[in-house]
Amino acid sequence: MTSLEDRDAVIRLIGGYMVSDAIRAAGSLGVFTHLDQHPDASLAALAAHTRAPAEQLDRVLNLLRYAGLIERHSNGLRNSSLGSALVPDRAGSLAAFAQNFTSPLFQRAWDHLETSVLTGEAGFDREYHQPVYDYFAHDEAANTLFNQAMQEEATATAEAAAQLITLDENETVVDIGGGDGTFLTTVLQAAPTATGIVFDSPAGIAAADGVIASAGLSSRCTSDGGDFFTSIPDGGTTYIIKSVLQDWDDEHALALLTRCRERIPAAARLIIIGNFLPDAYDDAAAVGYLTDVCMLVISGGRERTLADLTTLLGQAGFATEHIRRERLGPLTAVELRTGA
Ligand SMILES: C[S@@+](CC[C@H](N)C(=O)[O-])C[C@H]1O[C@@H](n2cnc3c(N)ncnc32)[C@H](O)[C@@H]1O
Repeated sequence: MTSLEDRDAVIRLIGGYMVSDAIRAAGSLGVFTHLDQHPDASLAALAAHTRAPAEQLDRVLNLLRYAGLIERHSNGLRNSSLGSALVPDRAGSLAAFAQNFTSPLFQRAWDHLETSVLTGEAGFDREYHQPVYDYFAHDEAANTLFNQAMQEEATATAEAAAQLITLDENETVVDIGGGDGTFLTTVLQAAPTATGIVFDSPAGIAAADGVIASAGLSSRCTSDGGDFFTSIPDGGTTYIIKSVLQDWDDEHALALLTRCRERIPAAARLIIIGNFLPDAYDDAAAVGYLTDVCMLVISGGRERTLADLTTLLGQAGFATEHIRRERLGPLTAVELRTGA
């Protein structure tokens, strides 16, 4: 018979989506922002700020305390160090990431997980009758939130990447699927003579010119909207593909890499950055197992091992003997010369 302790542990796991929803509600109500600005706030003050009755708010705060996001001291309420990560617009924030991945838009896709497991079809496509990036092209609010979430993600590793990606004088860097340009502009700021092109879908680059301008890089960085399955900008010396391949099944990932092989100049280098799974199951790769199933549900894609990536690169016609690998925080950068 299952012990009461094990039952309790399983009930906590079943309640995972309740914690997710509490995070989204608290974020929308401004709980994390208020506690950041007013540490040791009283429940009454937080209730007044959020316009939620104290009794109901307190119940949600208890759930967030159990989840390790909020602390209650004798002086009042505080964000824990984890809760601080949900304060918007600060280094390392996951506030937009949380709103995006807990949104009803994404959760309705997860309702189809069983079908996705059985058929490989993305739950998102099943729910909305179109792939996620086609959907973003005509839902501006969802597109903006997704791009903000990706910006938070890109910001977290961009500084380290800028140290790693050393550029020769007058290089041109093309970031394929570069989103709003957050990653590329950080790399370019560390290389004063380099120029860059952020290449993404028209919806993906919607905010790129603003990001480029506020980085002070309008004279040496441009944005270009297009479809990376059909065209990739010419003239680069370094091409980056960051956090893109996992969106796609092997057929599409191979099509993108094949397009790169055809279009990237022979002397240029290609740097693929991603979160790669270990060859064998490892608890330490927990985030990778989460995002792997998330990719199945949202875009029909998958996380891969470095061996999987090497196989795809070989199939796309790249010579894979001289691949360089560098750790980039939780990510890995894989560098190869296209003409090698
Ligand atoms: C997961 S995001 C990664 C964004 C960015 N590289 C980063 O690391 O933050 C994937 C990007 O691929 C772009 N994308 C998807 N399909 C595309 C296509 N067919 N052509 C060009 N870009 C595309 C999306 O708009 C999105 O910006």
